[in-house]
Amino acid sequence: MTDSIIARVFRYDPSKDDAPYYKDYEVPWQDDPSGFMTGLQVLHYIYENMEPIVYDYNCRGSICGRCSMVIDGEPGLACYTPLKPGGAYL
Ligand code: FES
Repeated sequence: MTDSIIARVFRYDPSKDDAPYYKDYEVPWQDDPSGFMTGLQVLHYIYENMEPIVYDYNCRGSICGRCSMVIDGEPGLACYTPLKPGGAYL
């Protein structure tokens, strides 16, 4: 069985949703020479392969802070925070 990551994403489209909600996505683990995936890689995967989601980033180098979000209950940078295969980031 392939490892995956569960990501819970806050969703709200006022043009069609009555209220905000969370949606869980199971993202397959992507082998990377670094040995980890970042939250930003997970969000890119969801956007490119599952459905459009909105998120922000710029430098991808932990400089600008635009990818700041809550990751596993703690504030962090999505482009910098390493995630582990089999993890659930809710
Ligand atoms: S994209 Fe700039 S800090 Fe993450």
